[in-house]
Amino acid sequence: MNLQNEIESIIKEAKSSLSSCQAEDQLDATKNLFIGKKGKLTQVLKGIASLTVEEKKTIGKFANEAQAEIESFLEEQRTRLKESYYSESLKSEVFDALRPIASSERGSLHPITQIQYEIEDIFTSMGFSIMDGPEVETDENNFAALNFTDDHPARDMQDTFYTVDGNLLRTHTSAIQVRALKNLKPPFRIIAPGRVFRYEEVDASHENTFYQVEGMVVGEGISIAHLIYTMETLLSRIFRKTVKTRLRPGYFPFVEPGFELDIQCLVCEGKGCSVCKHSGWLELLPCGLVHPNVLSAGGHDPKRWTGFAFGLGLDRLVMMRYGIHDIRYFQSGNLRFLKQF
Ligand code: PHE
Repeated sequence: MNLQNEIESIIKEAKSSLSSCQAEDQLDATKNLFIGKKGKLTQVLKGIASLTVEEKKTIGKFANEAQAEIESFLEEQRTRLKESYYSESLKSEVFDALRPIASSERGSLHPITQIQYEIEDIFTSMGFSIMDGPEVETDENNFAALNFTDDHPARDMQDTFYTVDGNLLRTHTSAIQVRALKNLKPPFRIIAPGRVFRYEEVDASHENTFYQVEGMVVGEGISIAHLIYTMETLLSRIFRKTVKTRLRPGYFPFVEPGFELDIQCLVCEGKGCSVCKHSGWLELLPCGLVHPNVLSAGGHDPKRWTGFAFGLGLDRLVMMRYGIHDIRYFQSGNLRFLKQF
């Protein structure tokens, strides 16, 4: 067989191998068998040495054409494979934009977090900013700067967890009042939500860990009228109806005068029922005007500045909202309880 015939049969063989390939990587491997460095065509061309110059020219040209022919055939095959891949996958793949997704369980915010966020929204809409403070506090911030002297009997009102280094777990968010007075320039309005701790015997209405939102407004001429207005606005928005309030005297070393704010019973509207123990009123939150000693300790002149403060317990509020009778549910991690919110 002369070289030309051999080359022709290589072309034929290459074409038939390429057309039986099923994937693109097979195409490349097959190509190497014929026109790669060790391919059949290359091998055949080694015989060229014994030819005359004229014959070398003809065969050389012929071999180049053969290579080009195989390569272009290979590209056709590549296109064939791609097209059949796409048309096959179009047949088998389905895209249904309306198909419902598999249902998955959704979490929800803890009811205390929910009410905290609502309260934050109400207060920011009234121009308050939100402040934060650490859960481990100094005696200074939790007590001393709030007008609790060392031997003050009121320190016993709040049973305290102390840390070995002489600090404590804050017993109330009022510690953030001190931080506000030290860090902000009056006039200011802040609320400070947070977790607080007391060394309490735990039962249906007492927890060692609970939540408060502190509020503090300091300015010139701030009075009890501002306090009452702010509390009534807050409570009407939380309970989604007009809420009647009253103030009774209450004692806290950092307010003077200090009050307990009651709301008219939401269940019987003041007529008297079992929820309000037939008094028509529910005790809701302690508050008062900021004590001059507290303003002074914070570096502000009590003759110029006055203010009010309040401490709202979130656990009680959520219990009232949903009729929950045991405070221990909140920290229990009980999913059957939590999934209801
Ligand atoms: N910090 C007080 C408490 O937890 C509540 C309070 C706050 C009272 C602000 C007056 C003003 O008992």
